[in-house]
Amino acid sequence: MSDPGPGPGSAGAGGSSAIDPRLLPDTAAVGDDGGLVVGGCSVAEVAAEHGTPVFVYDEAHLRARCREAVAAFGRDRVIYATKAFLCRAMAELAHDEGLLLDVASGGELHVAMAAGVPASACTLHGNNKSVAELRQAIGAGVRHVVVDSFDEIERIEAVVAEGAGPAPDVLARITPGVSAHTHEYISTGQDDSKFGFNLGNGDAERAVEAVRRSSAMRLVGVHCHIGSNVFDASSFARAAEVMARFAVPLDLPELVLGGGLGVAYVEGEEAPTIATWGSVLLDACDSLGVRSRVSVEPGRAIVAAAALTVYTVGTIKEIPGVRTYVSVDGGMSDNPRPVLYGSGYEAFLPRSVRAERGLTARLVGKHCESGDVLAFGARLPSEVAVGDLLAMPVTGAYGHSMGSNYNKIARPPVVFCADGDARVVVRRETFDDLLATDVFDPR
Ligand code: LLP
Repeated sequence: MSDPGPGPGSAGAGGSSAIDPRLLPDTAAVGDDGGLVVGGCSVAEVAAEHGTPVFVYDEAHLRARCREAVAAFGRDRVIYATKAFLCRAMAELAHDEGLLLDVASGGELHVAMAAGVPASACTLHGNNKSVAELRQAIGAGVRHVVVDSFDEIERIEAVVAEGAGPAPDVLARITPGVSAHTHEYISTGQDDSKFGFNLGNGDAERAVEAVRRSSAMRLVGVHCHIGSNVFDASSFARAAEVMARFAVPLDLPELVLGGGLGVAYVEGEEAPTIATWGSVLLDACDSLGVRSRVSVEPGRAIVAAAALTVYTVGTIKEIPGVRTYVSVDGGMSDNPRPVLYGSGYEAFLPRSVRAERGLTARLVGKHCESGDVLAFGARLPSEVAVGDLLAMPVTGAYGHSMGSNYNKIARPPVVFCADGDARVVVRRETFDDLLATDVFDPR
């Protein structure tokens, strides 16, 4: 086995280069047969055993990113954003590596706790938490509730008054008015946002006063999240600066600066490392006189590049003078990101990792709509054929978690590979699962 290394014919972005090994999980290697190996497991064998589509995660990569984050920020200062990818094995892994968990719904809290993660290691988020979610979280004793609105302050007061649990420690979510350079739908720090209390119009100050006045909660800090998939470290530094100006005079124990660190999805993209992100944020906080504990909430940076999705090519349609369509057996139901955000992805053949990719094709799924695109201009080896396995890297974040059953397609399994062992952590859905919530009384 050898490192995937750049193939002999590697060219720059836009050429017919082999897949860039930097987009592959840490342990990716090329087996003696030229095929892709992840976590010591042949990807072709994983696909043969578990079928396709399948999410293949490199467990060592997940652990390495968790450790990198803990090294950069400290234990109990990294809060994994479970929305990026959550199942019990992932919750357990993150907790085991010393991360806390950010849960954005009662369902995420339920899954985390079902993995044995104590509520005291979970932070509850959400711009519209229900009374039921607040009862569940406060009753279980979550570490922090991140208060997002004036309505929520009243809701927490009511829930505590009815005896759901003791007054929780809360953070006030502040919208710092910093807009990150990212897709509009995943940008959250600017003034025009459904999230948090605006700094600019005085809401943030009023919220801090209201929470401090309340005997139903204890203000322990402030929080912001400027957006997701942010590549420019200076956006984080600007947010830290704005937040520090607000937080320092409050002299609270906690300052949470959110997640949002970007990752490279396609060749030519460069994202700051977790270590760089750490030094940019912590240096900024230091120089601004922040004495609070500084924490962050990465999601994508922990899990995105740890996984690839393996599909099978079902049809290839060449329309002379127009384009070639390569259809695989998944699509927008296992990765809606290209459709939602126009996100780019690469693809390659796991049987031939170093092959040059001279064919440009539109990689599409099997759903009944033309918009079901996985990669608008995928570069693939020209020998791609029906029946080939096709791998798409960097699908570990917001793929499985944003998946759906559109067209009643059963969701793919998730397999963690480590030390030559492939373990299923989420099994493939069955047709019976599709009927599990369907209530039907034949007449
Ligand atoms: N903290 C808060 C409060 C958040 O809202 C989020 C993401 C994170 C942390 C983690 O952000 P990350 O480090 O993963 O960028 N579905 C979109 C991303 C939406 C993220 C929403 N909040 C996507 O696929 O790009």
